[in-house]
Amino acid sequence: MITKNGKTVQLTGRNISYIMIENNDGDLLHFHFGKKLPDCDYADMEDEWSENLGLTSNMVSLDVYPQEYPAYGYTDLRCPAYSVMNKSGSSISRLRVKEYKIREGTADINGMPHLYAGNKSAQTLEIILYDDKTGLEASLFYTVFDEYDIIARSTVIRNRSDAEMTIDSAFSSSLDLPIGDYEMLYLSGTWGRERDIVKTPLKPGIKAEASNARGGSGHEINPFAIISRRGADEDTGEAYGFSLIYSGNHCTAAEADRFGSLRVRQGINPLGFAKTLSPGGEFYTPQSVLCYSRGGFGALSREYHDVYRSNLMTSKWTHESRPVLINNWEGTYFDFTEEKLLEMAKSAKELGLDLFVLDDGWFGRRDSDNSSLGDWVVNYKKLPSGIDGLAEQINKLGMKFGLWIEPEMVNPDSDLFRAHPDWIVHTPGREPAQIRNQYILDLSRGEVCDYIIGAISAVLEGAHIEYIKWDMNRQMTDMPRPGYNHEYTLGFYKIIDAVTKKFPDILIEGCSAGGGRFDPGVLAYAPQIWASDDSDAIARLKIQYGTSMCYPVSAISTHVTVSPNHQCGRITSLKTRGDIAYAGTFGYELDVTKMTAGERAEVKAQIAAYRRIQPLVREGDLYRLQSPFDGNYCSWELVSKDKSGAFVFACKILAVAQSKDARLKLRGLDENKTYVDRASKKRYSGALLMNRGIKIPYAMCDFATVTMELEAAE
Ligand code: DGJ
Repeated sequence: MITKNGKTVQLTGRNISYIMIENNDGDLLHFHFGKKLPDCDYADMEDEWSENLGLTSNMVSLDVYPQEYPAYGYTDLRCPAYSVMNKSGSSISRLRVKEYKIREGTADINGMPHLYAGNKSAQTLEIILYDDKTGLEASLFYTVFDEYDIIARSTVIRNRSDAEMTIDSAFSSSLDLPIGDYEMLYLSGTWGRERDIVKTPLKPGIKAEASNARGGSGHEINPFAIISRRGADEDTGEAYGFSLIYSGNHCTAAEADRFGSLRVRQGINPLGFAKTLSPGGEFYTPQSVLCYSRGGFGALSREYHDVYRSNLMTSKWTHESRPVLINNWEGTYFDFTEEKLLEMAKSAKELGLDLFVLDDGWFGRRDSDNSSLGDWVVNYKKLPSGIDGLAEQINKLGMKFGLWIEPEMVNPDSDLFRAHPDWIVHTPGREPAQIRNQYILDLSRGEVCDYIIGAISAVLEGAHIEYIKWDMNRQMTDMPRPGYNHEYTLGFYKIIDAVTKKFPDILIEGCSAGGGRFDPGVLAYAPQIWASDDSDAIARLKIQYGTSMCYPVSAISTHVTVSPNHQCGRITSLKTRGDIAYAGTFGYELDVTKMTAGERAEVKAQIAAYRRIQPLVREGDLYRLQSPFDGNYCSWELVSKDKSGAFVFACKILAVAQSKDARLKLRGLDENKTYVDRASKKRYSGALLMNRGIKIPYAMCDFATVTMELEAAE
């Protein structure tokens, strides 16, 4: 609901209010984002607006007022939400309220993924701000849903002058929070170790920036952060989430001013960014989804999971049972023949798997990573029946067929590059860098995007393909101009949007050298994303736990691979590998033909278990119970929305004699229900499970895992 009372405008969600006030000078001030407040005019509480701690009135300036979209260089000297240089070379502006518009539904963000209303009730407020000295105009968009605790923000910058202007930065959202003791949580990592949870206190005077400028959203910093009141934890306390629906260079920056009040901005990374607007031109920022929780990080995550599953992810597969797959990558790497693949598929079918995915190496002359990207034509030497013939044989076995592709890339050793050497991202006059022996195709060019859409279409129309793994394996260098990364990102959305619209039934799995592009922008099209190239189960505890801070577990692709693990050499049992992989979109990635009879029986049981658990993975609520970032235990729980069933997972990472910490209190159940443990048939009341907890029977070994499937008794 959006209401306007005098100079106060208020957005009301399920439990939240977001309140702004226009002062007598037309500046748009921020008043409150948090628990719901009465719907009234707050303009007469002028003393309360500011964070001015006893400064005399002649020192009062915008610097001590919380604002909605702060300018550079006027009286607010904190970090600005935007910076636009006009023809005279000045970046000074003062945006003041011109108009308020309210409409049903969500905001439209030109060419970029964003939240949609679906069957939910949503309203959008547009506040148009204008600087009459420069002709700079900005529209601030705020979408509120009746049943969520989120506010989705984005901005459009317009040039209403008769000369060019250059945008040097334009954040999607800027939020000023009152004086307090805050902490920032962000997800940091690298290849093979994505989305570690890192927390930093935000002391007065500090600036903390969680940003990435490597091309995609990146392994290094995810476009997500939580700002919490000190002391907030998984289950209690105030937390504010910031999640950017964007797959390019991004930045979430927090600045605690000298009093300890906080400004948090989120949007496109200003590093390497600029956009020149001609008279009449406009620029859209991506959407930043803000969330408020009084129930700590856990409630915040569950809110993002619900919002993204219901109002971001567009794939028809989002709410459908996903095929349990076998991928050949770690089983064969580039070294396979048609015969070998069919042998693997047959064996996988006997185990009960649904989908066979052929990974890298099927096209051109690709026997290693040094050639053929761009030449999306089958290698008949390896696959004499072609992709269509292979797919047909796999379909005959009763399995679906899926294929890997890396459409945004080209190897210098490829027919595509030889024909179009100028189609790569490069700066004229400089030798472009190769990473993994490859260049990036220039998606800012319409003809390149059209070629890629055509090439993918030809592959998908040439055989019965029901799934694609869309990979992207390098960082972006040699960008020809400021703002290029954004142009590229729009090109990426253009091609993935066209492909998903043309082939709506195909399940797309996102991937970028593991989890290098695990973001809401990709999720809008691909309901599952390969989380990391480190497939080791114990490493995956942190990766999956960290990823779940923002992203639904159904989006996290989790595969059981071979032991010793290929990335870190760790030896784990098949049980440990399976138990950890259940909390995701489950599959196998190893040579199943090499498994023993005992292992094969265990795999069959795992697949059957996953089929029971999958509805909870897809639609349930996640409760993180013990963090692998805090100690030797990791546990989580998935509970159905109606609380009639739950899946519990617990892991003791290293063996401990007489494990004193083996009692687990569950969460999210119905205290008044009785739950039956599927395996032991023991009955427990919800009240007991949540308040006294249960003892977890860990085996005496490292990496001991326990799972429980609980069902409410009739
Ligand atoms: C990187 C991916 O993360 C892997 O799973 C695999 O598909 C390779 N690329 C193939 O080159």
